[in-house]
Amino acid sequence: MHTQRLNSVMERELTLEFARVTEAAAIASARWWGRGDKNAADDAATEAMRAMFDTVNIDGTVVIGEGEMDEAPMLYIGEKVGRGHNVQVDVAVDPLEGTNLVAKGLMGAIAVLAVAPKGCLLHAPDMYMEKIAAGPAAVGKISLDASVTENVRAVARSLHKDIADVTVVVLDRERHRHIIEELRRIGARIKLISDGDVSPAVATSIPGSGVDMVIGIGGAPEGVLAAAALRCTGGEFQGRLWPENAKDIERCKKLGVTDPRKILTLNDLVRGEDVIFAATGVTDGDFLKGVRYYGNYATTHTVVMRGVSGTIRFLEARHRMDKKTQYTKRAKA
Ligand code: FBP
Repeated sequence: MHTQRLNSVMERELTLEFARVTEAAAIASARWWGRGDKNAADDAATEAMRAMFDTVNIDGTVVIGEGEMDEAPMLYIGEKVGRGHNVQVDVAVDPLEGTNLVAKGLMGAIAVLAVAPKGCLLHAPDMYMEKIAAGPAAVGKISLDASVTENVRAVARSLHKDIADVTVVVLDRERHRHIIEELRRIGARIKLISDGDVSPAVATSIPGSGVDMVIGIGGAPEGVLAAAALRCTGGEFQGRLWPENAKDIERCKKLGVTDPRKILTLNDLVRGEDVIFAATGVTDGDFLKGVRYYGNYATTHTVVMRGVSGTIRFLEARHRMDKKTQYTKRAKA
């Protein structure tokens, strides 16, 4: 993949701008909390995120988005976002990460994005990826080539904890049965989630979140988003594409990944430190509160990070809904 090492193209003022973008998506989609309509929640998030992006001074190209041009009306891969600027950036978005979580009113849904100079984000295709994530203490100590037991031991040692005190988040899927069995055998704490593996991956780097590790197979685009956050926090993340058929293998090759079993390091997923990551809670999660509505107000909770400085900011915002017409669409009764 073509890459470019640019020193801090991502101006720090952009952090607040990107927080606005994820806030807009979260406010719009949280209206669909528990209403059983994941597509409506996703559409609301996408529309609001798209509209807010157009107020930001970037010349952005969506490299991870809502799908290919012919399958997504907005934020499709290749779509231009932003008001234009002299520097080109790649944009990875998931306007609503955890569509089912919102539809069912469950915890852990976020609106999320990452932005980096052109060529610095892996253009991960919509396929599965094997992932492992842990906080900064585990850097260089875990590997997708190691067993679950070895990795948990390494994280326990790095955190000066007993294995019985290490909490590992795993997507509750049949394909993870062997991981869950192994974790139970060694006595680690397991948090099974029904969807949304970006938020827990980020949580491994947030002290007090209660999450120490994430292991398992989830979406590759979500893997790049999580890697962007861990690039900023100094955490550890590895991914390995998980092609399921010949078409997937072809897509890997197009990416320049000739050996799909190759472990993708943080630097393969997000080249360089010049990256900004933003996420707003849609429903309550491990480290972000979800959107609350109070008549004419809504409150949001956002984390925004910048790789160059390593600063992690939490922003609590109160929004006047009568002044923000783009958020006021309500879920139909
Ligand atoms: P949505 O696209 O519906 O928001 O789901 C997201 C997600 O749960 C990711 O967090 C995860 O990586 C992936 O889907 C898991 O895929 P699958 O549901 O096919 O196991």
